[in-house]
Amino acid sequence: MDLFLTPAGRIMYPGDNLTDVQALREQIPALDGCVYLNCGTFGPVPSQSTDEVVRLLRLIESDGPFNPDVNETVHKVYETARESMSRFVGASSDEIALTRNVSDGINIVATGFDWEPGDEVIITDQEHPSGALPWINLSRRYGIKVRMLPLTHNQDETVASLEDLINPKTKLVFLSHVSTRTGYRLPAKRLCDVSHANGVPIMLDGAHAVGQMAVDVKDLGCDFYAGCGHKWILAPQGSGFLYIDREWIDKLKLTWLGWGMTEEYDLPSLSFESVSEARRFEYATMNWAHFGGLVKSIGVAEELGIENTEARISELATNLKQRLSDIPGIEIESPMEPEISTGLVALSTAGLNHEAPGKWLWDEHRILVAHNAENQWMRLAVAHFLLEEELDRFVECMTELSEDR
Ligand SMILES: Cc1ncc(COP(=O)(O)O)c(C=O)c1O
Repeated sequence: MDLFLTPAGRIMYPGDNLTDVQALREQIPALDGCVYLNCGTFGPVPSQSTDEVVRLLRLIESDGPFNPDVNETVHKVYETARESMSRFVGASSDEIALTRNVSDGINIVATGFDWEPGDEVIITDQEHPSGALPWINLSRRYGIKVRMLPLTHNQDETVASLEDLINPKTKLVFLSHVSTRTGYRLPAKRLCDVSHANGVPIMLDGAHAVGQMAVDVKDLGCDFYAGCGHKWILAPQGSGFLYIDREWIDKLKLTWLGWGMTEEYDLPSLSFESVSEARRFEYATMNWAHFGGLVKSIGVAEELGIENTEARISELATNLKQRLSDIPGIEIESPMEPEISTGLVALSTAGLNHEAPGKWLWDEHRILVAHNAENQWMRLAVAHFLLEEELDRFVECMTELSEDR
């Protein structure tokens, strides 16, 4: 699917008059009543995905849970979800474990090593709490040291910082693929190379990468990659995944175990053998219908084409940042250069002297953003489904706040 430009120079998906963006929007009911600038927290879900979740829930309840036919369907849903997810991130399906969320994936890996006092893990100074707490906890439980890599908006500096911090005590490097704080795009492939050159495994947190940009875990060369459907893939909440490079499936220790993840199990002899695939890290009952929704949402994303989505996001976000940076009282905290940017746009609203701009945007204009009134930090998720006129409305609102300072 090729992109094309309107006479005004606007990037659009193929089709007349924004047909494909419109067609996508028509599938997403949450876009009707508001300007949705927060798929960095949760993505709004297309009806076909929600319908699939409901269809599967109805099936299980009408035919009876654990009915053999229903079980077969459940099994297929899981398999299809692993296949879809692996295709989407360039892995093989035996390297994908379905999880509830990104945090699950991080915790599986964090607890999968035999930590000893003095071991070190490197994280960035912009990790989400879910990307920091598991390591802080390990430092309390096992006396490991958490080293902090300071992020700037300079990829060479990021690589150099990792080179400086990594040392013989480093047991794991854990980095966000895209900073949750600013949307800065880390040079993930180069960082994987540095890590491996030092003999250290590396995990990437892809919460804000998967669904908004092309991700190929094999090309990146990471050992572990955690992500979710419920942000940029626009899938139902509770649909996460963890990629584990085949080399690591046996080496990573199991922490949570239960039925469903064993090949053999014998209670009298207290023995068991895990399945050989990454799904050994899944166990017991899950909310499986959600994964049917994930499959549908990945289908939508694939139909649009991730390169098209990425290009549209880049165009919209670059344009928006330029316009916002002209508004007095607003300070852009995200990088301006498209090559190191994503659709996450962070800004300080401190200069607007307004108590709660996020609340005002929602109450008065039905514009949904992530905003922390305490530190006056705002984050916009500029997704591919947004219309230029919606971003115009946002800019007008911020201009009004600026004029009222
Ligand atoms: C970078 C990053 N990692 C992890 C998470 C946690 O995601 P989840 O709720 O899927 O565990 C978030 C949530 O916003 C995030 O931004």
